[in-house]
Amino acid sequence: MRDKVGWGIMGTGKIAKAFATDLAILPDAQLVAVGSRTAETSSQFGRQFGVPNCHTGYEELVTDPDVDVVYVATPHAFHKENMLLGLEAGKAVLCEKPFTINAEEAETVIRVAREKKLFLMEAMWTRYIPLVVKLRELLADGVIGDLQMLEVGMAFVAPRDDAYYFFKPHLGGGILLDGGAYAVSIASMLFGGPPARIASMAHLGETGVDEQSAAIFGYGQGQLAVLYMSFRTGIPPAARIMGSKGRIAIHPPIFKPTQLTISRNDVPDEVIEIPLEGNGLNYEAAEVMRCLRTGRLESETMLLDETLEIMRTLDQIRAQWGLKYPMEVPSQ
Ligand SMILES: NC(=O)c1ccc[n+]([C@@H]2O[C@H](COP(=O)([O-])OP(=O)(O)OC[C@H]3O[C@@H](n4cnc5c(N)ncnc54)[C@H](OP(=O)(O)O)[C@@H]3O)[C@@H](O)[C@H]2O)c1
Repeated sequence: MRDKVGWGIMGTGKIAKAFATDLAILPDAQLVAVGSRTAETSSQFGRQFGVPNCHTGYEELVTDPDVDVVYVATPHAFHKENMLLGLEAGKAVLCEKPFTINAEEAETVIRVAREKKLFLMEAMWTRYIPLVVKLRELLADGVIGDLQMLEVGMAFVAPRDDAYYFFKPHLGGGILLDGGAYAVSIASMLFGGPPARIASMAHLGETGVDEQSAAIFGYGQGQLAVLYMSFRTGIPPAARIMGSKGRIAIHPPIFKPTQLTISRNDVPDEVIEIPLEGNGLNYEAAEVMRCLRTGRLESETMLLDETLEIMRTLDQIRAQWGLKYPMEVPSQ
């Protein structure tokens, strides 16, 4: 491994730009390449972030010898093929959430990474945010006793922007695979696995994607999680974690929190605050580089088997609504 890990970014949208900004604060990272569908966007991104190798097309990006790891920042409908492109070229891959459209796609990609012995990780940046690391420590120390209930919500008024994936079924639109993927991932992290039972209801809008929904997860020891998500109303995205001896409120935004409050009977509330560096995407990038330098093929904090379970949970929720994306329906 070189002194600086060479990053290549696939796609030049919102999250790609935020990630490029955050790579700049990591001394052992170098943004060496970008790949875009068009030459113009590629060179524009290159100029903005000082990227030396600006490629037209994703194939050129993954075959660039300066690239050690490819960050896939395209809409989820393309994650499977984009990850496979990177892996087939022998590169390590970090892929935005949701990892894929469904569990079947995730299984394929994970199998290829394992066969090729290449690093692969879902970019669930929330797991690596310092306050979330602290939260896991607090829960492991039993600060609020045994975990009993979780309430987590992700809701914002989504713009009806034709250029964006939110309302487009062929791009994997809908709030579940967008904001909902965080809520399901947080439940998985806290309860240590998938729910035993799921009850869910959604409203599918005129384009056919889920515009809002709620789900209740039941776990083996009677624990419950209540999840709600919406493209039709805005609430500060927060979570309440309730245990046998108290509760923890995670203050918004839940996907990159900096503050939590611990409440227990007969004790004053305790507020813990841990500020963020950058946009907060630097922590997952640092984890990828730690794994690459130590020869790990997976991050222990976001194991591929858990990513797969999360995709299975998302599949089960959609199955309750009867929502299939066009790429999941066999053509006649
Ligand atoms: N925005 C966020 O805050 C955020 C946060 C966490 C995760 N994510 C995830 O990151 C992924 C990308 O989200 P984003 O918000 O960055 O989306 P975006 O702004 O639309 O950017 C996606 C990029 O993917 C490329 N692309 C390839 N095929 C495309 C197609 N058919 N239609 C549109 N774009 C296509 C485009 O780059 P080129 O034209 O240059 O190839 C485009 O700029 C999603 O899976 C999302 O869930 C986003």
